[in-house]
Amino acid sequence: MNTILTGDPIKAAAILRAGQLVAFPTETVYGLGADAFNVDAVRRIFQAKRRPADNPLIVHVSDPGQIDHVAFALSPAARTLVRECFPGPVSIIAKKRPEVPPIVTGALDTVAVRMPEHPLAQEFLRACRTPVAAPSANLSGRPSPTTWQAVHEDLGGRISCLLQNGHSRAGLESTVVDCSQALPVVLRAGALTMERLRELLPDLAVADTGMDEIRSPGLQYRHYAPRASVELVTTAADAVAHERSAYIGLAEPAGVFGMCKVCPSVEAYAHAFFDFFRRCEAAGVQVIYCQKVPLAGIGRALMDRLTKASDVHASGATAPGAAIARRRSY
Ligand code: TXA
Ligand code: MG
Repeated sequence: MNTILTGDPIKAAAILRAGQLVAFPTETVYGLGADAFNVDAVRRIFQAKRRPADNPLIVHVSDPGQIDHVAFALSPAARTLVRECFPGPVSIIAKKRPEVPPIVTGALDTVAVRMPEHPLAQEFLRACRTPVAAPSANLSGRPSPTTWQAVHEDLGGRISCLLQNGHSRAGLESTVVDCSQALPVVLRAGALTMERLRELLPDLAVADTGMDEIRSPGLQYRHYAPRASVELVTTAADAVAHERSAYIGLAEPAGVFGMCKVCPSVEAYAHAFFDFFRRCEAAGVQVIYCQKVPLAGIGRALMDRLTKASDVHASGATAPGAAIARRRSY
């Protein structure tokens, strides 16, 4: 398949409306979109990404009015988040309308809804004139794509169109909040910070005992994994420099690494790390040392992604909260 590269959101939307797959930029990461009501097109998302069929997709809307096409009976928490955070880097889980095909939601009776704030994403979604089901536009298990080049690397030749734009602003995915029950629960830490969510939803359920409590439903799959091994270090001095090792963090490390990125802030670190993983891989790096950051602001989501990518997670080690999160999610 020839993947059309374009900067034109109207052209990209026409391709989606014709039942094809279109990757598009958002402020979090790039998404791989299909018409949420076109079962064949949605099925092809799972094929193109090699994604397990029981991992549900987020439905993207162009304006809050479109939420009613896919969800109903929004809880007070959901309505608060729509009012205060749409458009933005948050996905809200609510009761699904029967019209939404089960393939979109992994046969759950709930649906995740998000309205991106990226201007090109908004133009594209408006022109689609239908809600757009879209996971991140990477192959399953690969680092999420924060540039169009990363999308092309994973999905070039497997999708019909790629709407090109620059580097995603946040660099990691939306925060997923389950608002389908009486109490809102964060299922995945993300670009909308927990501090902001707690301001808006004082009864937000997030266990403070460990990050595994806030894992997403995709928990049982290995996520965000570069081909190099990832090791978390507390200080830069713990990273071992050699030509096939890499370092990313806030502090300057000692020694010469094959690849090295010192970030001026936690935000810059979150913005850069997925792309850094891919570039390390291309350079043949064998181990990537990532400096840990405090669990505050976007640092919480960053630590979640780094932990998932690390060897600790890959070896199957789980914290006590993991079983709870898994039960709740699936
Ligand atoms: O920022 C983002 O969220 C990006 C952009 C493209 O919007 N999308 C994204 O999609 O990260 P994906 O598929 O990579 O991650 C969606 C997460 C998964 O962990 C999935 O299990 C969860 O949301 N999810 C989707 N629908 C759900 C539902 N009905 N109930 C529980 N979890 C759900
Ligand atoms: Mg993903």
